[in-house]
Amino acid sequence: MVLEAIRYNDGKLSIIDQLQLPFLERFIEIQTSEAGWQAIKKMQVRGAPAIAIVAALSLASELQSLLTQGKLPGRAEEVGVFIIEKLNYLVSSRPTAVNLSDAARKLEAIVSDRSKYTESTAQDVANAFIKAAEAMLAKDIEDNMAIGENGARWICTKALPAGRSKAIVLTHCNTGSLATSGYGTALGVIRSLMLNGSLRHAYCTETRPYNQGSRLTAFELLHDKIPASLITDSMVAALLSRPADRVDAIVVGADRVAANGDTANKIGTYGLAVLARHHGVKFLVAAPLTTIDLATQSGDEIIIEERPSSEVTRIKGLQEDDVTGDAKLGTVRIAAEGIDVWNPAFDITPFALIDGIITENGVAEKDEDGRFHLEELFD
Ligand code: MRU
Repeated sequence: MVLEAIRYNDGKLSIIDQLQLPFLERFIEIQTSEAGWQAIKKMQVRGAPAIAIVAALSLASELQSLLTQGKLPGRAEEVGVFIIEKLNYLVSSRPTAVNLSDAARKLEAIVSDRSKYTESTAQDVANAFIKAAEAMLAKDIEDNMAIGENGARWICTKALPAGRSKAIVLTHCNTGSLATSGYGTALGVIRSLMLNGSLRHAYCTETRPYNQGSRLTAFELLHDKIPASLITDSMVAALLSRPADRVDAIVVGADRVAANGDTANKIGTYGLAVLARHHGVKFLVAAPLTTIDLATQSGDEIIIEERPSSEVTRIKGLQEDDVTGDAKLGTVRIAAEGIDVWNPAFDITPFALIDGIITENGVAEKDEDGRFHLEELFD
């Protein structure tokens, strides 16, 4: 059974509440852009492609219900202005992942274009938006399957030592069905390796402080019965230094890839890239073209979201009573009360440490001068 995190049918959107995973699989309905904004901000949905799609579909749901109730503004241009205001609001939910603003810009262009035709009605503009948002959901899954295939092929041909046919791969954070429309990016590469019979073992990091690895990636790996082990973030150096069962590649996702290849991704990614270089392990970024931001020249220009201190000082989990064995979901404090906290959600990996950027249009590698030419992926 395919793991499904976003359900959308005929103007009705619901998402799996990732704050409850892996303990409870509960879907919540998202009927308005306000509810979409809240779900993204609280990280009930997270992952660069998933937040863009949920934002777009939350507004599609709102428009669908206004259409059904006959409550849309009367004129085409008014609907256009209404949609653009809501898109700007949705983009304000989280700043680092470019997919959200990229989706908003594309949807805005469709709406502006449609509301300019003299014969367009308010309904036409709303319907054009809904259709385009729905198409984004389908396109993301398609792109992820291609990323998976491209990445698996690259690893088998360029990362495996002679005589080995199955790869050992490490990934960070969650980049799977829960972070996208389905299948995933870096986790999609692992899924494709598995489907092709080319995966020996996957390692996922815990991904402190928010534990996307231990809560979400581990959940997906178990769901798909992929041979895998969970390690804490601090164990990676020890793992890479083991001569036996050598890791062949580290594959991560991205929230924004700048024109020069500098990559913003989950905090801890940069450290993994440094370790990979030290140990001669291939370091790969897997991301759809919607994550590549050619308008941003380098990582210096990327805004890094800082999250609440409580994500570092508290942890949510299943509390088990030692005596009765009863379990209940709860949050516990794990740090000295009053300590100051710095909690950047992402870091920047310099392009020099990246061996390849896997996209649906192929794997970008650097030229002999050590530069990526990411614009060529868009040809
Ligand atoms: O803070 P999150 O959980 O939204 O961060 C997610 C990541 O950093 C992912 O690696 C990235 O968005 C790619 S998801 C395909």
